[in-house]
This record gives sequence, structure tokens and C-alpha cells, in this order.
Amino acid sequence: MKLWGGRFTKPTHRLVEEFNASIPFDYRLAEEDIQGSMAHVTMLAACGIISKQEMRQMIAGLETIQQKIRAGKISFAIEQEDIHLNLEKMLIDEIGPVGGKVHTGRSRNDQVALDLHLYLRKQVLEVMSLLVQLQQVLLERAEQHLHVLLPGYTHLQRAQPVRFSHHLLAYVSMLERDVERLRDSYQRVNTCPLGAGALAGTSFPIDRHLVADQLAFTRIYDNSMDAVSDRDDLIEFCSNTSLIMVHLSRLAEELILWSSEEFAFITLDDAYCTGSSMMPQKKNPDIPELIRGKTGRVFGHLIALLTLFKALPLTYNKDYQEDKEALFDTVATVKNSLTLMALLLKTVQVHEGEMRKKATAGFMGATDIADYLVKQGMPFREAHEVVGRLVRRCIEQNKTIAECSLAELKEESPLFEMDVFALLSCEAIVNARQSFGGTAEEQVRQTMNRKREKIAETLSWLLQVGKGNME
Ligand code: ARG
Repeated sequence: MKLWGGRFTKPTHRLVEEFNASIPFDYRLAEEDIQGSMAHVTMLAACGIISKQEMRQMIAGLETIQQKIRAGKISFAIEQEDIHLNLEKMLIDEIGPVGGKVHTGRSRNDQVALDLHLYLRKQVLEVMSLLVQLQQVLLERAEQHLHVLLPGYTHLQRAQPVRFSHHLLAYVSMLERDVERLRDSYQRVNTCPLGAGALAGTSFPIDRHLVADQLAFTRIYDNSMDAVSDRDDLIEFCSNTSLIMVHLSRLAEELILWSSEEFAFITLDDAYCTGSSMMPQKKNPDIPELIRGKTGRVFGHLIALLTLFKALPLTYNKDYQEDKEALFDTVATVKNSLTLMALLLKTVQVHEGEMRKKATAGFMGATDIADYLVKQGMPFREAHEVVGRLVRRCIEQNKTIAECSLAELKEESPLFEMDVFALLSCEAIVNARQSFGGTAEEQVRQTMNRKREKIAETLSWLLQVGKGNME
């Protein structure tokens, strides 16, 4: 029996039933749908649209259904198309025809919009807290390895030595922006669409603020057509999570490179690696590779949603139903990736000696020597030329700058004195970078303090908002 069967003379074709149904995936919105219905019937009773008795019957029925779902005792029916109709049918079966009053003054259009807002609101907070957990792991590792130095790269060529902690803190900063973006989006996610009806509002004397208050929404949509049509928050979420995946994939790529024998900077824990079915010696970094690989599907979902809503006429169109799988898969992928990245970093072994060896080799002090000449009064462009010649000469003679004699240095510029050699140790190079946000020890310590404060602030915001939504 179809809840909308009245005007139809034929049963639905089996293929249409399958093609049309969203229950295979939107069953995930069951909790939100029940929560929304409870708030809706409470408001209907408060406004005198249904009786208190009817409200109590429906709430009791919804609670029973909720418990059965939680206990895994419910199987949803494809004939009922989606989660909304499934639950309404169950309510009628549970408490009789009075259950049919649940949809008074409501349409599936504002109902599904409400469910999505409730669902996304929770997910935004969960993703934010996973981001913070990853930041905390990065920060812990940074503290632990404050004095470890490794080469910093540009063009994947060794450029200047940096602190390993400084490198990790760059990711803490990226994730901090991800947190900020989600936090900013939260106010838009936390907006209540219920009461818009199918598109135009309703003729019942409802109180939209009462529903919104019960569900802890801080705002309500002020145009019923926009309320049922808006999926900006889904697109924003997929855009924000795409950037998270950009950041995770860069970190994943570095873990993959660093764990190769070529770099040998780190060893990933056995629990997060797998072997080869053919080559017995192999230990593969599958998890960072998968995080890197799954970035593609999150981008794909963003493009799918943008395309889905482009040029759609107002208001609801069945196309909208396609928004859910993209959203659900994005949520699962991002949460798993964040969780696994934190575990990978927590357990990774850092090979301080290998990093140091490569940070010391080569000509990474070249900029410091040029800066030395500049401090003696030489224009930087000239100093660059002098040191360039010096490097070329060293390459030809197969030695480092530190291995040159002062006399040899003086052949390139008379401004060189004995004190130049002190600049060439890794520590000296790193600690010379005292500019704000630089890699000198003091700067890195200050950055860690700022990151810790920011994390504490985010955590208290999350706690406060989370508590508000529970009430
Ligand atoms: N299953 C539908 C969806 O996910 C719910 C809304 C249906 N509304 C309608 N007018 N057919 O979008």
C-alpha cells in the first residue's frame, strides 16, 4: 500500500520502484527523521493543531520505532520509497490511523531538508573534533622531536634545513584553517527549514520558532522556497572536506616518500602497512596511499553536487535525492582518513640520524653565506653571484663549502673571515631563522604555544555547541 496511492490506477513498475527509491541509502537519516517528527508534533499540539493526547500517542509510537531501529529489529521496505514514508507507515502500523496526523502541515520537501540539516550539523562537529585530534597528534610529535632537523625542500630539491617539528606544524596550521572554515559554515548548517511545507508555507497556524528552539537551531530560513531548495550547506561541506583531503593527501604523500628507502626518514608501524602477495621483502604504505587516492572521490562528490544543483528550477525536484550518497560517502571517507592519519602519525618511527645526515650534506648553508656577505655591505644580488661561483667550484672539486680554506673563500670575496665557518652547521642555519614564524627554536616554541591555545579554544567551542544540541 502506497501512502500516496489515492490518485493512481496502476501499481508502480518494479524497475521504477527500484530506480525511484532512496531507502537503500537514506535509512541513515532515521534518527534525524524521528527527532524532527517529535519536535513537529510537539509544536502542532502546542499550537492547538492536534490534541495533546494525539501528540502523546505519536511520541510514544515514534519512541517505540526508535528503539526497534536501534536494536536492529526493523527492516525497511522499498515499496515505501524513502525513510520518511517508511517511518510514517511504521507509525500508522504501530498506533493506528492517528499516526497519519504526523504529516500535518509538513511536506517531505521541508522534512528531508530538516533531516539533512540535523545530520550535517552533527557531522560538521564530528569532523571538527577529528581535525583537532589530528592536530594534537601532530603537536605531540612536534614537541617530542623539537630538535630533529631535516632538509626542507622546494621543487623536491634540498633547499634549507628545517626543524622536523616546524614541518609538522605547517600541517597544524593547514588543519587550523579547515577547522575555521567548518566553524564558519556551522551557522548556515544550523538553520531550520521546517515549516516551509512543500514550497509555499502552510495554512496551519504553526510556530516555526518553537520547532527550531526544540531542535536547538539558532536560525530559521526566512523564505519557504529557499528553505526547501537550499543545499548550499552540503556543497560547502564537500568543498571544505575537499580542502581537508588536499591537506591529508599532501601529508600522505610525504609519509610515502619519507618511508621509502630513498629517503629512509621514517618507518610506518607494521599495524598500518601491508605486504605484497608476490615479493616477500615488501612492506607497502597502503594506508597513506589510500588516503591520497580517496581524495579523488571527495573532489568527485563536490563536482557531482555542484552539477546536480546547477540550473535546477525552484523549488524541489527529484534530482535532489541524488545529494545523499555523495554526502554520506564524503562523511565516511573524510572521517576514516582523519582517524587513520592520526593513528599513522602517532605510531610512526622517526629516524633522526637519517634526517640529519641529509640536512647536513650539500650546500644548504649557501643562503646563509650570501647573507653573511650582505651583512658586510655587499648587495644581495652580488653576494648570490659570489656564492654561486663558490658552489660551482666546490662541485668541481667534489667538496663542501665547510671543507674550503679561508684563503680559497677569499679568492671569491675578500669580505670572508674566519667567523663564516660558524654559520655552516645545521643548528646555526636553523637557529638563524628568528623571523616570526621561522624555524629557529624560539619561534617554533612560540608557534606551538599559539597552536595549543587555538586548539583549547576550539575544544571549548565544540563542547559548548555540542552541549547546546543535546538539550
Ligand atoms: N526521498 C526524497 C529525497 O531524498 C525525499 C523528498 C521527496 N519529496 C518529493 N516531493 N518527492 O529527496
